[in-house]
Amino acid sequence: MSKERVNFGSKLGMVLATAGSAVGLGNVWRFPYMTGQNGGAVFIMGYIGCVVLLGLPCMMSEFIIGRHGAANTGRAYGKMGTHSLWRLVGCMSVLTGFLITGYYAVVSGWCLQYIFSSAFGELNGNPTYITEYFKDFSSAPLQPVIWTVAILAMTHFVIIHGVRSGIERASKIMMPLLFILLLVVVVGSCMLPGAGRGIEFLFRPDFSKLDSNMFLAAMGQSFYSLSIGMGCICTFASYFSRQANLMKSAVNIVLIDSLIAILAGLMIFPAAFSVGVNPDSGPSLIFITLPNVFREAFASMPILGTIIATGFYILLSLAALTSLISLHEVSTAFFYEELHTTRKKAATIVTVSCCIMGAFCSLSIGGRDWLMIGGKSLFDVFDFVTGQIFLPIVGFLTCLFLGWVVPRKTVKDEFTNWGTLRSTLFGVYMVLIRYVCPVCIVAIFLNQLGVI
Ligand code: PHE
Repeated sequence: MSKERVNFGSKLGMVLATAGSAVGLGNVWRFPYMTGQNGGAVFIMGYIGCVVLLGLPCMMSEFIIGRHGAANTGRAYGKMGTHSLWRLVGCMSVLTGFLITGYYAVVSGWCLQYIFSSAFGELNGNPTYITEYFKDFSSAPLQPVIWTVAILAMTHFVIIHGVRSGIERASKIMMPLLFILLLVVVVGSCMLPGAGRGIEFLFRPDFSKLDSNMFLAAMGQSFYSLSIGMGCICTFASYFSRQANLMKSAVNIVLIDSLIAILAGLMIFPAAFSVGVNPDSGPSLIFITLPNVFREAFASMPILGTIIATGFYILLSLAALTSLISLHEVSTAFFYEELHTTRKKAATIVTVSCCIMGAFCSLSIGGRDWLMIGGKSLFDVFDFVTGQIFLPIVGFLTCLFLGWVVPRKTVKDEFTNWGTLRSTLFGVYMVLIRYVCPVCIVAIFLNQLGVI
């Protein structure tokens, strides 16, 4: 049974929805702490290089596969491939997206809880109190599970309204709101005494910090931040029209994503430096370090502090929600088309299974024995398996697929909209996708596994 395919209704909607997928916790939380750990401005320069040389071509590849296939990611790979095994790569990408939805929803749920925690002044206390607050909350049996279900319910609500009136409309509201909130918090943060040192850390490169680990970290971050290898970009591209200029859209999305990451740095570093905290504390940055930073930085203006902190968690939740919507859509589109069911039923299957997966991931954080695998919590196992194993494998195979397997003409036709757009960059794209990207992905993969 073939179903009528919908498209995004406007170019703006298409770019904002896809940028919404890319802009997420990776920009607001992971990028700043990676920058903190890897020497500030030099990391940013390395990151921009990776985005241009790796992120952009990989995003183009997913665009090409998705739009060509005009189907869910599993089927889209199958339609382009000469062998049915390629369909498996697409399915693996869907599976990666599906598994990530479960644990990404847990962290997104924490962001929702922290909106209330900061608005009601529950985070006012000394650093030990804030650390304990986070530990108690995240390992509790009920509360974080409820928030996980809540954010999945919001996602479900958007998804069942379809591509145009659900995803596209929500993105057109949420993305500008996120941007405005970000600017407000950036201004608040940059006005603090001593903020200049944070700005300097972000923009003045210290070349002594350059090393290979920094590059590998920057490469990994560029893939994560652009949502590559998890079916999201490919699924959204399957809703692009035949007239959409893929290269231009990819450039716009990459620019929005990088701009938001840098603004997030401008929000976090000045505040952190102003109170003398180095923002390199890893995953605990947003839930432990930042509440401390906000409280201390705005000690003399507690109301402004509360407003800024609440605004920050709202923007974090918005960023997480737009990414979650794209993750959910990967599996919804898959079940919708493969099970020949209605969109609502497909979405329900995804939501219910992600709630169950999310609940187990959340419960595993409290160190419950029955949810530990090889000494790691289920949450960490999901993170590891999807981000460090599946994602690089899918990314690598996708590059080989477009670079070496799919006929060059098919790729070029999509790249240039059947010869109607200029093809100057096509040669460069092919070189990147055939040689540079696969080699770099293998390097990231081995580095993450600790082999190099
Ligand atoms: N790109 C998102 C972020 O920056 C994370 C994400 C990865 C979202 C993969 C969807 C799919 O947070």
